[in-house]
Amino acid sequence: EREFRINIAIDGPAGAGKSTVARKVAKALSYVYVDTGAMYRAVTWDMLNLGIEAENEQEVLARMESLEIELIPGEDGQRVRLSGQDVTDDIRSLAVTRTVSRYAQIEGLRAELSSAQRQMALRKGVVMDGRDIGTTVLPDAEVKIFMTATVEERARRRFRELPESGESITLEQLEREIADRDELDRNREVSPLVCAEDATVLDTTRMTIEEVSDAIVRLAERQLTRQ
Ligand code: DC
Repeated sequence: EREFRINIAIDGPAGAGKSTVARKVAKALSYVYVDTGAMYRAVTWDMLNLGIEAENEQEVLARMESLEIELIPGEDGQRVRLSGQDVTDDIRSLAVTRTVSRYAQIEGLRAELSSAQRQMALRKGVVMDGRDIGTTVLPDAEVKIFMTATVEERARRRFRELPESGESITLEQLEREIADRDELDRNREVSPLVCAEDATVLDTTRMTIEEVSDAIVRLAERQLTRQ
């Protein structure tokens, strides 16, 4: 066990491979993986259940106060619990995926989740992925990565990940929806998806998961030996 630990921030658009890579990097370093998108998804799932629309900010924020989101690191990834209920699988539904960007624009909601995320990183040793980690949540993270890939490649990756059963969507539809979500995430007023000035940009379009995670682990090792 090394005494000294760092934080690693991984940002980028939907489908760039952030979560797969972040999970591998965390494993390689024995760090904790924190998927911040899952927190936005959990809140969205709850709001959809209650029929509270994103336009109704006051109601969203009032409801937030009674929600407890827990990210539980486990052997095969992180489990997500919302006020005691395991919602790990529910939050991946198309209904949530299609609406989450609208809830993620609400300033008060972002403030709440960002502060919870900062708490999780206080003791370091965290690999956190999202849209605003290197810019807003952990501006002092020792390693910052901005992962990109073409929208076509990102749609193909998401298409391959779709659950076998249930929801059907074409590759073209998926590509359109990813492009729409990027647009909302990039253009929102509060903490939009932008590359931090001091982030290392990795275009993963032609890279394998191993190549990307190895590159990030190398950057982390370099930081760790510098101390
Ligand atoms: O990474 P993901 O697809 O699970 O993220 C779901 C949505 O949450 C995405 O549309 C943008 C939003 N999000 C955000 O605004 N800030 C973050 N740090 C993480 C996710």
